[in-house]
Amino acid sequence: MNRSGAFRSRILHVTSTDPLRYEYLEDGVLLVEDGKVVDLGAAEVFGRAGFALGQCLHEPDYLIVPGFIDTHVHSPQLDVIASYGEQLLEWLNKYTFPAEARYADETYAATSAVAFLNSLLEAGTTTALVFATSHHKATDLLFDAANEKNMRLIAGKVLMDQNATPELHDTAKGGIADSEALIRSWHGKGRLGYAITPRFAGTSSVEQLTLAGELHQRYPGTWIQSHISENLDEVRWVSEVHPHVDDYLDAYERYGLVNERSVFAHCIHLTESERRRFADKGAKAAFSPSSNLFIGSGLFDLAQAKEDGIDVALASDVGGGTSLSMLRTIADAYKVCQLKGYSLSAMEALAMVTLGGAEALHLDPFVGNFEKGKEADFIMLDPNATNVMSRRIGFSDSIEDEFFVMMTLGDEKTIAATYVAGEKMSL
Ligand code: GUN
Ligand code: ZN
Repeated sequence: MNRSGAFRSRILHVTSTDPLRYEYLEDGVLLVEDGKVVDLGAAEVFGRAGFALGQCLHEPDYLIVPGFIDTHVHSPQLDVIASYGEQLLEWLNKYTFPAEARYADETYAATSAVAFLNSLLEAGTTTALVFATSHHKATDLLFDAANEKNMRLIAGKVLMDQNATPELHDTAKGGIADSEALIRSWHGKGRLGYAITPRFAGTSSVEQLTLAGELHQRYPGTWIQSHISENLDEVRWVSEVHPHVDDYLDAYERYGLVNERSVFAHCIHLTESERRRFADKGAKAAFSPSSNLFIGSGLFDLAQAKEDGIDVALASDVGGGTSLSMLRTIADAYKVCQLKGYSLSAMEALAMVTLGGAEALHLDPFVGNFEKGKEADFIMLDPNATNVMSRRIGFSDSIEDEFFVMMTLGDEKTIAATYVAGEKMSL
């Protein structure tokens, strides 16, 4: 296992999200030792200081950027990606729940976990916040596979004790006991973290939501992840399942599930009051444009969320989303924002899938850019990945324009190499 090296290439990373700042080295060197960034600078400066540039892996055409961060994705849903014709609640019942039920089979769960992680790496994603299934063992196997690859992954066993298919139901207490066992096994082990994962308010009883909040209090370093206000029928349905709550956010808030360690996917149809409370509590929104377009859920208003002071990260939400590629996810985000009257800039988009994502997950001390001491998760983007991209980039006159072309036209093909903690992953 080789976790050290010197990489000479074009290098781009975001150094601050607020205000947005980035650094671009036309001919840079990234020096990695023992899986960590030890230095970054212009090749010329390294050369003048006596560094033997000849020892570098030299890729003058590639663009090195930090590994991408996907803040909401479902590992079992590669099996239902690209499923036709339904909106959220029907899509869950018709495609998703039957597919997730297959993860009761441990052999299937083990091979599928490896396939999922390989697919993330192929897309250039090195960190993700992941929903597994409601099975204890399948979740354990996902952690085990991520640990093998030394990936920085946060995941959780899905809590769902009602209103889904009976094969997927846990029980209020049993689901929490399984989650606690997984926290003890995996949270803080290697580069892994645990997220307490009520699927959404409609599929958890009051008892389960209460116990989930109490579990987070006992383990305050864990994360919380769920879904909220994705689809209007869902919002109505949740108010019928939990008639005692004031609104959808309250179904989490009153059980201690909304704080700065919570990540809620979608947040499209939140009311003004919900948005204010969401921002006040410091919860994070996982904007999932590909999924929102594909399932037909609605258009997230990024500019409004920013005005409300809500921290927003980007997410593929596969299998609602149609690609694990964060480049394709950004391309969809750009289009959704255009429809809402806001033009997402290339560098803001890059920030959202690197340092901004890390900040949303409180992982910025470890990943997100090439600050010295951080873990060396990075990817090499190939501007000549396709003829169309290569031709268009030939007319680029700035790194901002070039990355805009990559985020608009790019996908897995653009990822020439993925490194996890300094180690090249086979794709
Ligand atoms: N809401 C509850 N479960 C899910 C899911 O698996 N995918 C999406 N997109 N929304 C959900
Ligand atoms: Zn989701």
